[in-house]
Amino acid sequence: MTHPDPAPSRAGARPRVFSGMQPTSDLHLGNYLGALKQWVAGQHERENVFCVVDLHALTIPEAIDPAQLRARSRAVAAMYLASGLDPETATVFVQSHVPEHTEAAWLLNCVTPLGWLHRMTQFKAKTEGRASIGTGLLDYPVLQAADILLYDTDEVPVGEDQVQHVELTRDIAVRFHHLFGDVFVLPKAVVPTSGARVMGLDEPTAKMSKSIADERPGHAVRLLDPPNVIRKAIMSAVTDSERETRFEHASPGVRNLLTIWQVLSGRPMTDLEAEVEGKGYGALASEA
Ligand code: TYM
Repeated sequence: MTHPDPAPSRAGARPRVFSGMQPTSDLHLGNYLGALKQWVAGQHERENVFCVVDLHALTIPEAIDPAQLRARSRAVAAMYLASGLDPETATVFVQSHVPEHTEAAWLLNCVTPLGWLHRMTQFKAKTEGRASIGTGLLDYPVLQAADILLYDTDEVPVGEDQVQHVELTRDIAVRFHHLFGDVFVLPKAVVPTSGARVMGLDEPTAKMSKSIADERPGHAVRLLDPPNVIRKAIMSAVTDSERETRFEHASPGVRNLLTIWQVLSGRPMTDLEAEVEGKGYGALASEA
C-alpha cells in the first residue's frame, strides 16, 4: 500500500494522525491501551496514517530473524485491523515499503546534534548492559522523526514512553526550519489520560514490554492470548498483602490492575473502588 502525498496546505482539513508499532513481537495490553485503542477511537474525526515500523525493529539486530520479521509485520497489520481500524478510513502500510522514510531520516540526521540522541531515555534503557550497540539504536528517534514529519502530522497518539521522541521530533523540525525555512508541520504527542503506561503484571514498577513478555510468561497479557492464559496472568499478578484497593493509596500492582480494569470497562474509578472495597486483591483480580 502507498502513503498519501502530504498536502502542501492542510488548512481546514481534519487533523492528521500518524503512529506506528514495531513488529518485534506479539502486541500486548500496553500497546493496546497506550496507543491502538486511541487510534481506533479517533479515526472518524481524523485523517489516519498507521505504519508497521519494521525498520525500527532492526535496531537490535541480534533479536531479528528476517523471515519472522516479515511474518510479524503482517501479523501486526492484522492486529491493527482486528482492533477496529477501518481500512476505508485509515492508511495502513509497512515502513520499509516507502523508501522516503530512510531518505528523510538522512536529511534530518544531518541537522540533529549527537547530544540530543544521547539524552534519550529509551536509548539509555535499551543500551544498558549491552556489549555491542549499533548506530541504528542511537539513530532510532531520527527515523521516528522522519516517519512523523513526512506526513505533515498534527497528532501522534502514543504511550507515555514515546513522548520524549515526539518532543525531539519537534526540536529537529524547528532546527531544520531555522537553517532552511519552514517546511514541516510541528506534531504533538497525544497520550491517553489512563493506560498511558501499563506496568508489568509480574513487576509493577517496570513498564509492560514486548521483550520481557517473550522471556517471562506472567509479565504481560498478549492480545492473542487465549482467555485461560489471560486469567492466569491476571490472577497471579504481583500486588501486596494489604487490602487497600483505593487507587490513591494502593500499591503499584493494585493501581495497575485498577487502571486496566477502568480503561477496559470505561467505568469511573470511584465505582470500581466501591465495588471491591474491603475485599482485597482477590476480588479485584477476578473483576479485572
Ligand atoms: P513500540 O512498538 O515499542 O510501541 C508501540 C506503542 O505502544 C506503546 N506502549 C505502551 N503504552 C502503554 N503502556 C505500555 N506498557 C506500553 N508499551 C508500549 C508505545 O508508547 C507506542 O505508542 N518508537 C515507537 C514506534 C514508532 C513510532 C513512530 C510511533 C516508530 N515511528 C512514529 C509513533 C510515530 C515504539 O515505541 O513502538
